[in-house]
Amino acid sequence: MKYFFLSFLAVALLVVGIFGFRGDKFSQPPIEVFPDMDDQDKIRAQKPSGFFADGMGSRKPIVGTIPNSGDNGVLPVEFSEGRDGYYFTGELDGTYGNGMPEELSLKEESDSVALLGRGKDMYGVHCAICHGDTGDGKGVVGHYFAKANVVVASIHNFPQSSHPDGYIYHVIGNGKGNMGGYKHNLPVRDRWAIVAYLRTLQAAAK
Ligand code: HEC
Repeated sequence: MKYFFLSFLAVALLVVGIFGFRGDKFSQPPIEVFPDMDDQDKIRAQKPSGFFADGMGSRKPIVGTIPNSGDNGVLPVEFSEGRDGYYFTGELDGTYGNGMPEELSLKEESDSVALLGRGKDMYGVHCAICHGDTGDGKGVVGHYFAKANVVVASIHNFPQSSHPDGYIYHVIGNGKGNMGGYKHNLPVRDRWAIVAYLRTLQAAAK
């Protein structure tokens, strides 16, 4: 028993020697055996931060940020809300039209190439997960949809004759059946870019 007390005392002295008493002030940072999350990079509300070049912790919305809704609950004009005309609705004289709208101002060949490039990118971001890279409807998500007996359409089956460009544009914005709409994610110009790219996928599948 004597040895127990002696060794206990020795250990206690050692611990106090290394770690000090609770509440002691140190000039060096304390030894942290279990640091948990004591130190972490973070920004405190309304406080400066050395992380950003301008030294401000609070940030302004980055350029191109889309408001959830404007003052009147209407999306900005690039998103077509409440606008008329083929460019915004895909409709010509009450039916869906074919062809790329003037507003895209495709004058040079390079304009069309740029639009197709954009369409390819946006298709890859928003559509390929379900419709597949080639548009055959065999994207990764389709695999899981199949378990619920939902069939993802192959976009090769939608020729201009039965499914005009304006209609495809409309489906991208508003969705159809089990497909949700993308009008809050894709500005009008990007929707048309996808329509154009979708036509090239169809041509490639022939
Ligand atoms: C979450 C999966 C999913 C995503 C993402 C998706 N779709 Fe679809 N899409 C579907 C399904 C499912 C259908 C079949 C809808 C139905 O008829 O019920 C469909 C149908 C379609 C149709 C056929 C409409 C018709 O008349 O039958 C087109 C065109 C289409 N999608 C284009 C797109 C484009 C372009 C994108 C990207 C902006 C996209 N889809 C993104 C699941 C998706």
